Parts: sequence; structure tokens; C-alpha cells
Amino acid sequence: MKDIEQHIIKLKNDLNFHNYRYYILNEPIISDYNYDEMFRTLESLEKKYPQYKTIDSPTQRVGATILDSFKPLEHRTAMLSLSNAKNQTEIINFYHRILKSLNTDNVEFVGETKLDGLGVELIYENGIFTAGATRGDGFVGENITQNLRTIRQIPLKLLGNNIPKILEVRGEVIISNENFQKLNDNREKNDKPLFANPRNASAGSLRQLDPKITEKRPLEIFIYAFGEISENNFKNHWMFLEQLKKWGFPTNPYNKILKNENEMIKYFNDMENKRNTLPYDIDGVVFKVNSLNLQKKLGTRTRNPRWAIAGKFKPKQEITQIISIDEQVGRTGIITPVANLKPVKISGATISRVTLHNQDEIDRKDIRVNDFVVVERAGDVIPKVIKVIKEKRLKDAKSYHLPQNCPVCHSPAIKIENGALLKCSNISCPAQLRKSIEHFVSKKAMNIAGAEATMSLLVKANLISNVADLYELREYDLIYLERFGKKSAHNLITSINKSKNVSLPKLIYALGIPNVGEYTSKLLAKKYGNLTSLLSAKKDELIEIDDIGPIVAESIVTFVQEEKNIKVIQKLIENNVNPIYKNKNNE
Ligand code: IVH
Repeated sequence: MKDIEQHIIKLKNDLNFHNYRYYILNEPIISDYNYDEMFRTLESLEKKYPQYKTIDSPTQRVGATILDSFKPLEHRTAMLSLSNAKNQTEIINFYHRILKSLNTDNVEFVGETKLDGLGVELIYENGIFTAGATRGDGFVGENITQNLRTIRQIPLKLLGNNIPKILEVRGEVIISNENFQKLNDNREKNDKPLFANPRNASAGSLRQLDPKITEKRPLEIFIYAFGEISENNFKNHWMFLEQLKKWGFPTNPYNKILKNENEMIKYFNDMENKRNTLPYDIDGVVFKVNSLNLQKKLGTRTRNPRWAIAGKFKPKQEITQIISIDEQVGRTGIITPVANLKPVKISGATISRVTLHNQDEIDRKDIRVNDFVVVERAGDVIPKVIKVIKEKRLKDAKSYHLPQNCPVCHSPAIKIENGALLKCSNISCPAQLRKSIEHFVSKKAMNIAGAEATMSLLVKANLISNVADLYELREYDLIYLERFGKKSAHNLITSINKSKNVSLPKLIYALGIPNVGEYTSKLLAKKYGNLTSLLSAKKDELIEIDDIGPIVAESIVTFVQEEKNIKVIQKLIENNVNPIYKNKNNE
């Protein structure tokens, strides 16, 4: 028996080591065939002697459990974010600020790439990977351990020695541009919605409840920071990065020690020049004070450390042509002009439609159909038209004017906000209704599973004319609909009923009050505690809330005083969609 246990331990260690050679060093020393053979031997031994199966075994990367939801995981030390330097001057200012605070004329930095993915934390207890989480709000993230385990670059058991009892490391999960393209090509073939960019694809992949799906996504990771480390003897950040490699973690090959401001600026420029040749997106570089002692001396502000800064690159730009301009009607009835572009790729994402905001913007930039334009995309920010290349203007370039009527219901459009915006005058406009219901059922709002596509069917069949009507639907209303069977009707009603347990902030967000996003919804939930009190919100009370200004306050009051909205909210309450605000963690 002892022999078998020893054999299993040796196989696990060998496989972990070869995993490291393959996924971290890119220098395998055995063939795939030999690796697979060892893997299968281990699998069959573990099957026969399950008492020797451990969670750090390479056979245990992909679990079989499909979760209902992710549990919260509180970070032992907050996951901070970085303040930004927009250009070289701001980097130089940062450098001098540091010298001044430390009263010295010389500080060493580490330069790193600013990766554009999803920040995560990995927790190791006695060298074994035991838990991992998203950054969340910086204090509490989501426990996504079983998904992180599927990433082959993440060691399940640390290599080497000097292994602390508790080790928390932080890094960025990314998808390379090439793999992103392949993933989207595949989704297109299978009629699945495409990811907008590699960052969204990484986030979406890590939020899968079934780890078998995450496993198929080509996720990669680079580690760049630590949380808690018991026995933290590192003198500086560079030594930490070096130790990471010995433990078997992937670190970025462009990490570099920088001795002064000239080297920092050179690094910034060099990386910006390399940007297009890297296999993944970076949106800047990060400078970190090397000495951990000095980092401690400098300390942190509420959200950002004083000892680090992100030097952001200029957003990427491309030139393309406007094929046509049409209009979109939003959930508040605002009619927005949108340009259809000859598709162009900017940092991984294909851009084919871009909002032109309003007529003023079109006139000011003199944008015409058939014009060649400079389009820019910065990370998460929606792409925009920067300017027209006038020298390339064609003879048949046509100017554009917003229509006098709503493009969907053809009711007259009215000018609002001093003529800056155009709005459909029909409050029952089907486009508005469809958009507001789509927003209501979306993931971040009521999270009614799979309902987005169904909503326009329900609107068309006159089954719903506002979001509260959803709660009065019965299975027999649905089974006669096109493409609906007993089962799908049952599923939809079940998930509608389930959504009654939603938290108050999410419900407020779902209402789609103009200018009220997730953050303001939380503030409102905290202040008013339930829907009934929210209905009596007054402008002066709202302005007193930190972070709510007069424009947002006005927009909330207008919303809760409109008769149509009051009716909908009352109907929600009657249907038991009426959560009360609980504490911070319970929401
Ligand atoms: S260090 C205390 N290093 O950028 C600083 N972050 O705004 C903690 N990021 O949430 C982060 N590359 O997700 C650090 N080389 C790098 C990074 C990096 C990307 C992300 C990270 C963080 C955000 C900061």
C-alpha cells in the first residue's frame, strides 16, 4: 500500500512539474504522449485508491459541480486599484512627488505592463491552492475557485521551497488576441452572441457556473502583486516577482527594474511602441516603488496606493468609412443617431457601429455619410468618432439630419434639453417599452434567465405593456406563443417568480430611472429602504446624499412623480416584488 501511495505522490509531483515546464516556461521536456500516459496512469490509480486522491492532483483541475451562484469571498486585505497618469508629465510628477515625500533624491521602481483583463486573487494554504476570487468592489469578491482551477498556468501546488503558511497572490486573467478571435469565430458559427473584446470574454468565462465551460476558454494569467503573506520576508517587489517564478507562477516577461525617471519614460515609450506586437492587450504600464519598506512609508489613500501609478497609453485609433447613419430609440425615448461603419478592428474588438450622440455633435464635427473618419476605442469605453478626414471626402458624401418622427412608432419627435436631444413623444412607443423591459430582466438587474430574447415576443403579443405585467403572466398565457412549449413556459414563469427575491438596489437599478446606475441605486436603497418610501423622494433630501447632484436628483424626482411610473411601481408591490433594504453584505 505504501508503495502505491508513493507512486501516486511521485506521479502528481512529476505531472505538476511538467505542467510548469509546458505552461509557464514553454519548454516541455517530455512529449505530450508521455505526459498523457502518466496522466492516465494517475487517473486509474486514483480511481482504484480514492483515499489517495487530493485536491492538488492534476487530475482534479475540472470539477463536476455546477453552481447556483458564486459565494462572496472577503479579501483579507483590500484589493486596491491604481491611480492614473495620462501622459509623460504626469509620470514625471508622480516620480518627483515620491522623492519629495520620502525626502530623498533616488528611488528605484519596477515597471510592469498594465494588462487589460480581470483582476483576481489566489489563496494558497501550505502551498496548496485552496481558494480564488474576483476583485469585486475591492473588499468582497466572488468565490470563483473552481473556474480558476481550470487555468493550467495556475499551480495547484507550489514548487520549490520557502512556502508560507498563507500566501495570497494577485494577478490578471486575460485572453490573447488570437484566441479571442478564434473564440468569437466559433461563437459566430454556433449562432452565439459575440464578445465585444478580450476583456469581456475573460470576465464572461470566469463567471460561468459550470467549470466545464470555463475549461474550454483559453484563459491565461500573469501574477503581479500579493495580498496577505504569513512570514513576509521580501525586501522588495522585484524579489517577490523572482520568487513567484520559483513557486511556479507566470509573471510578465516585460517586468523591469527602473532606476530613475529617464528609465521610466523610456520604458513607457518602449512598451507603447511594442504594444501592437504583443499577443494580448495592454492599456498602459504600471510603476511600483520597489522597496516594500518605502511602499509602507508612502502608504495608501482610500482606494489607491501612493507608491504605484498606471501610465496610460493613448487610446488606439483607426481610420474607417461611414456607410450609413440610422437612429436608435433608447428606453427613455431618446432618439440617437448611430453610424454604421465599414468594420474595423481596434485592440481585439471589431467596431461596426458607433453612436454619434446628437445633431449638434454631427454638425460640429461635420460628419457625413461616406466620410472617412478616425475612430477611437479606449478599453471599456464605447468607441467614438474623433474627426472626419476632410482631405479624403468623396463627392457623394451626404449630410445627415435627424428625422422629425420616431423611426419606430412614427410619432412626432420633440426636442428636449434646449434642443440638444430628440425624444419620441409617445410614452407607449414599442421601442421604449422593449428596451426598458430588456433592461429590467438583464443580469445586473432582475436577472430573469434567458428572458431577453423572449421579451419582444411578449410585447408583440400584447401580453405585457410594462415591467410589472411580467408578474401577472401565467404559463397558459405563454404556451400558445411561437416557439414556446410547456417546458419553456414553465421555466420562464419560474425565473420570473425567482426574481421576486431580488435585492432592493438591483430592483431600483432595474426600474431604469434615467441617470441612475448600479451605484446610485445602492445609495437610494440605503436611504429609502423600500419602494414605497422611494416614491415620496424629494429633491432636497436627495441632494443631501453624498454623490448625488442636482441633475440626478431632478431625474429621480421626475421619474417617481410620473403617473405611469407610480402605477408600475405599485403594481410591482402588489405582486410582492417589494424587497426591503438589508445590510451591506446581505443587500
Ligand atoms: S497592481 C495596489 N499591477 O489594474 C495595486 N494591477 O487599477 C494593485 N492591473 O485592479 C494592482 N496590470 O486588475 C497591478 N501590473 C499590474 C496590473 C494591474 C493590470 C489591473 C488590476 C487592478 C487595476 C488597477
